[in-house]
Amino acid sequence: MKKIGVLTSGGDSPGMNAAIRAVVRKGIYHNLEVYGVKNGYQGLMEGNIVKMDLGSVGDIIQRGGTILFSARSEEFKTDEGQERAIEQMKKLGIDGLIVIGGDGSFRGAQKLTEKGYPCIGVPGTIDNDISGTDFTIGFDTSLNTIIEAVDKIRDTATSHERTYIIEVMGRDAGDLALWSGLAGGAESILIPEKKEDFSEIIDRLKRGHERGKKHSIILLAEGVGSGFDYGDRIEAETKLETRVTVLGYIQRGGSPSATDRVLASRLGARAVELLLKNQGGRMVGIQNNKLVDHAFDEVFTRDHSINEEMYQLSKELSI
Ligand code: F6P
Repeated sequence: MKKIGVLTSGGDSPGMNAAIRAVVRKGIYHNLEVYGVKNGYQGLMEGNIVKMDLGSVGDIIQRGGTILFSARSEEFKTDEGQERAIEQMKKLGIDGLIVIGGDGSFRGAQKLTEKGYPCIGVPGTIDNDISGTDFTIGFDTSLNTIIEAVDKIRDTATSHERTYIIEVMGRDAGDLALWSGLAGGAESILIPEKKEDFSEIIDRLKRGHERGKKHSIILLAEGVGSGFDYGDRIEAETKLETRVTVLGYIQRGGSPSATDRVLASRLGARAVELLLKNQGGRMVGIQNNKLVDHAFDEVFTRDHSINEEMYQLSKELSI
């Protein structure tokens, strides 16, 4: 292994830059040439590839987004697209690739590995929806952004004695809603992994109101459905004034937290170590604060699951 590439793919997440920095610096530390691929797999197919040096990743550890840009490419899912990408890597003599992104991005990485180009996946997404790692890069920062918003909304909820539904991202996963709901003291948390009885939510709101509680916060994961639909139903059934806030893309940006910077640095560096050992087709992760790696196949076949103990606790603390 003499030359390696690195790209970011799928939705950006805070800490991706710290991961890129770790890959570049760790690679150079081990006398590798490191190439940055712009615009994810799209850029790989188009040969949008630049040589990185130590300075090219200076002053980025604190920046959100990704200096390599990101994209979701349909063309890369085809055999022709993958062959085009391989041609570009051959031209530059790139022997292995590190892909920072979510599990959709790892499917592309697996295809390249099967075609003879070893790839290592680094989990980067705010959703925390990847099995084989306790945390993904960006989740912690996103959580802190959500909590800041929840605290602000709580002020208005209290002043106006309203019920607020706060819809957060997460695709099909409920981690952002569960963790921010617990940290933000939400009355109810609605996540796709758990079928919540709607009448139970209504009963809890009514019970709270009867004992003098003037406001309520509900955290809703986007995977459950539209916050506005839930808002209409809740207002109709409780007769309590209800408002909805969809937090949207503010959850994806911003300077990464210290936790995300450290995680990104550790995972990026470990990915380089795996390539140096000529391993491919694996994802690096963190479990019980230990670095681990798993075959992509394992990552794809096991579903990421929520923390049951935390879910139960959130219910007990919001009686
Ligand atoms: O995967 C990250 C994420 O922000 C999800 O939470 C959300 O469902 C999706 O990406 C939005 O994707 P896009 O950036 O394509 O709108």
